[in-house]
Amino acid sequence: MSRIDGKIALVTGAARGLGAATARRFAEAGAKVVITDLNEAGGEETATAIREAGGDCMFLRQDVTNEAEWPTVIDAVVKQFGGLDVLVNNAGIWMSSSIEEMTLADWRHITAINMDSVFLGTRAAIGAIKARAHMWPGGGSIINISSVAGLRGAAFASSYNATKGAVKLFTKAAALEFASLGYKVRVNSVHPAVIQTNMADALINDFARIGGNSSNETRGTMMSRHPMGGFGKPADIANGCLYLASCDSAFSTGTELVIDGGMTA
Ligand SMILES: NC(=O)c1ccc[n+]([C@@H]2O[C@H](COP(=O)([O-])OP(=O)(O)OC[C@H]3O[C@@H](n4cnc5c(N)ncnc54)[C@H](O)[C@@H]3O)[C@@H](O)[C@H]2O)c1
Repeated sequence: MSRIDGKIALVTGAARGLGAATARRFAEAGAKVVITDLNEAGGEETATAIREAGGDCMFLRQDVTNEAEWPTVIDAVVKQFGGLDVLVNNAGIWMSSSIEEMTLADWRHITAINMDSVFLGTRAAIGAIKARAHMWPGGGSIINISSVAGLRGAAFASSYNATKGAVKLFTKAAALEFASLGYKVRVNSVHPAVIQTNMADALINDFARIGGNSSNETRGTMMSRHPMGGFGKPADIANGCLYLASCDSAFSTGTELVIDGGMTA
């Protein structure tokens, strides 16, 4: 029996990138997976690929910033699969801006997607997750995707830093609150360094523009900041999420799983 065999998981922002890799990994390990995203074509494509590989997967369109959509999504998951055991709050965007030039609308846009969604998702899912938590050693699991940018600052990334730092501490507070209430639901954060996805390309292009360097030069500089040599792969993060979703991490709550090739060591 695999480590999350039979569990029911919801992964947000899973049309591509880290969310898609995590959904694939969960399905391979025997979980039933619901993936959500704004990108309907990409989400359907990812869900179809997972089903074609033998997994059990459904796509739902969701804007994670929309408060009203959250209960609808959770109800649909419970109706389709009979409950919910794991939530991965993964959907997120990158934004770089100088503080002097950033508008309040820019700030609110990224905080809504990267930060508000984590609260909305946790609040909407906790009832369903705790209802089945007695079934598993270590109970249910909520996994919030933060970043190394939630551990330390970077110039021209203040809004991204602020959202990812907030996710880190919201995670710890939720972990303690649910433990104190006697819920068997663990809450942990994951902190990737640069992982090769579309977001990483956007980040490299932004820093190249800000620094007045070519994208290739900037890519090389950024790679050199990862002592293990280069960027991570989506599967590196998916494997970390698998651990936190599984019964193997039964005693871990409020922890920060840093997956960064040694960058912050
Ligand atoms: N790739 C990296 O280097 C890296 C490093 C650290 C942390 N992260 C974090 O990992 C998560 C995934 O990043 P990624 O690299 O896979 O990015 P990505 O851009 O490849 O994928 C993000 C997905 O989120 C979806 N999304 C965006 N806004 C949404 C919304 N309002 N509602 C629903 N879905 C929405 C997008 O459509 C997209 O499919 C993000 O939270 C990101 O901040 C990524």
